[in-house]
Amino acid sequence: MENRSFARLGREVGVVGLGAWQLGADWGSVDEDAALATLAAAVDAGVTFIDTADVYGDGRSERLIGRFLGERPGRRELFVATKMGRRVAQEPGNYTPANFRAWTDRSRANLGVDTLDLVQLHCPPSEVIASDAVFDALDALVEQKSIAAYGVSVETVEQALTAIARPAVASVQIILNALRLKPIERVLPAAAAAGVGIIARVPLASGLLSGRYDEHTTFAADDHRTYNRHGEAFDVGETFSGVDYRTGLEAVRRLRSLVPAGAAVAQFALRWIIDQPGVTVVIPGARNPEQARANAAAADLPPLDADARAEVTAVYNELIHPLVHHRW
Ligand SMILES: NC(=O)c1ccc[n+]([C@@H]2O[C@H](COP(=O)([O-])OP(=O)(O)OC[C@H]3O[C@@H](n4cnc5c(N)ncnc54)[C@H](OP(=O)(O)O)[C@@H]3O)[C@@H](O)[C@H]2O)c1
Repeated sequence: MENRSFARLGREVGVVGLGAWQLGADWGSVDEDAALATLAAAVDAGVTFIDTADVYGDGRSERLIGRFLGERPGRRELFVATKMGRRVAQEPGNYTPANFRAWTDRSRANLGVDTLDLVQLHCPPSEVIASDAVFDALDALVEQKSIAAYGVSVETVEQALTAIARPAVASVQIILNALRLKPIERVLPAAAAAGVGIIARVPLASGLLSGRYDEHTTFAADDHRTYNRHGEAFDVGETFSGVDYRTGLEAVRRLRSLVPAGAAVAQFALRWIIDQPGVTVVIPGARNPEQARANAAAADLPPLDADARAEVTAVYNELIHPLVHHRW
């Protein structure tokens, strides 16, 4: 698999990683055996970057990754990024050095490591990303070696640009997919110029861009695609990328004709992201080994041609831009 670099870390990862929210909760049931088999399938397929968070299943995702790392020889090659900050109310006053210490200690225990590879602030309020005191506290964690590096996961382009301007932010995680083009305009060029890694999340628009769903598809009651369609539990942009389900289906129907022979719709959608200059790693979530393997294989597809790229932009401009472009 092609490697790309987190320039500020001098560290490379495979361009397709694994999003491990599914191995925690909020996506219906994924049992422990399936979760461990999914991790193994991803790593065996060349994945070296895993994204998790302390809040996914309240630590379940981290603990399963920790178990996997413990059982897996060669663990040093894997880069595990976690996140902190969403186990408490989203108030700037909660982003304190004492909380950072407690949260990172818990993640270190869950993952079974002395030093976390990367800790990302988990979509904090904008004031937090603008606070010098917050980044001083993160620098102190690096000095103490409880974390090797830090980044910021963001909702909006403006938040991404604020984070990129911080001198020691190693990565910005942002939604980027064929239904979310806005980061291409300013975020990707600014990150590339600054040497900040871009972690592209929700790459399949919560599965819409797999092309497997239709008007009759239903999701489990404990799946956010049932309970967060209108942002009832967290930012609505995290569910189907903030696009209403039926419009998303229509867009995917049009994109389907662009998929190269032999590739799946999901692989086309991932390759489109890999082709965007400035992307370091794309982190599709997978619920089973088959999905993990198929996603890793998207890195082997040739870059998409100019006609396909232009049609993605055309579909976005026509159907999606009016709904979401001003929001994030
Ligand atoms: N605030 C944040 O920082 C934040 C927020 C959201 C996500 N994330 C991270 O980003 C990762 C990815 O985003 P996401 O999981 O929300 O959305 P996603 O990757 O866009 O979609 C994941 C879903 O796509 C479907 N899928 C995956 N691979 C497939 C394949 N090869 N073929 C067919 N369908 C496939 C599965 O749907 P089914 O369940 O229907 O099988 C899977 O649950 C997360 O796991 C998490 O690590 C971070």
